[in-house]
Amino acid sequence: MKILVTGASGNVGNYVVKELLKMGEKVVAAGTNTEKLQTMFDNKVEATKLDFTDRSTFKSALYEIDRVFLMRPPHLGKPEDLFPFIDAMKANNIKLVCFLSLMGVENNTIPPHHKIEKYIETLEIPFAHIRPGFFMENISGIHSVEIRERDEIFIPAGRSKTSFIASEDIGLSIAVALHTPELHKNTAYTITGGEALDYYQVAQIISKVTGRRIVYKKPGFLKYRRYYIKKRGLDKSYVNVTVALYFMTRMGTAKKVTDEFYKLTGKRPKSFEAFVKENVLCFCSKP
Ligand SMILES: NC(=O)c1ccc[n+]([C@@H]2O[C@H](COP(=O)([O-])OP(=O)(O)OC[C@H]3O[C@@H](n4cnc5c(N)ncnc54)[C@H](OP(=O)(O)O)[C@@H]3O)[C@@H](O)[C@H]2O)c1
Repeated sequence: MKILVTGASGNVGNYVVKELLKMGEKVVAAGTNTEKLQTMFDNKVEATKLDFTDRSTFKSALYEIDRVFLMRPPHLGKPEDLFPFIDAMKANNIKLVCFLSLMGVENNTIPPHHKIEKYIETLEIPFAHIRPGFFMENISGIHSVEIRERDEIFIPAGRSKTSFIASEDIGLSIAVALHTPELHKNTAYTITGGEALDYYQVAQIISKVTGRRIVYKKPGFLKYRRYYIKKRGLDKSYVNVTVALYFMTRMGTAKKVTDEFYKLTGKRPKSFEAFVKENVLCFCSKP
């Protein structure tokens, strides 16, 4: 039998595919664009079309599948968007679904991940919820533009701390759970990096690695929201979700540090400094 990896082209999914292949598993990479997946993985994995909003794609995606990595594409804001596919997993007698959730959702009903976890549990599909802290890739990705162009970090997180984790480490945790499903049946893991940093410390580390002076601007929510919608042109609902997340971060919800990554994988999580060194080009403008 094979493992289906949804969101296989995404930050986490691509590492789940790579780690499972190293473990000798048969992997099917899923997404709405199979050509992109074939190119990404050098034609080394089977690729299948899966669109959570199109039920006609479910049957072929779940063919010969007994375990699933499930992620929620960020633009699918309603938990119910994923329910039809979860129903299809139930009908397929899945041995383990490993859902990419979010740190703290067990006590927070607002993010869609909460209802998705509960729906999986209600259907009694064996599960391993992986609840990571904020991804380091948020800094090298969406928030890198201001670092490259203005030497500024423009995030409304106040003085709060965040226990950033690398997507690579999240992907490894998920692969471990899917590779040994009996050991991880009906569990939940909160996985974080090894330290909680505030954004002044994030700026210091990026300054040290790039050799430039990067400043944390600490904008208020309104200024951040206006800038990201009007200047960056990002989708309003996406920006609103990030405002809510940074609001929660300011309440201290992102600072917890756990040792669950070590317990799952026997490895120490990547440090933020090591991540910045590996991804230094994301923070530098082209010559
Ligand atoms: N960023 C953070 O700090 C953080 C922290 C904790 C949890 N999370 C959660 O992590 C998840 C995002 O993971 P990620 O960053 O790995 O994803 P990502 O890089 O944003 O990639 C999104 C993936 O979704 C696929 N996709 C898009 N539309 C789809 C559809 N209609 N049906 C099926 N697949 C579709 C895309 O593949 P195609 O283009 O091929 O369709 C792509 O692989 C979110 O649920 C987020 O809340 C994020």
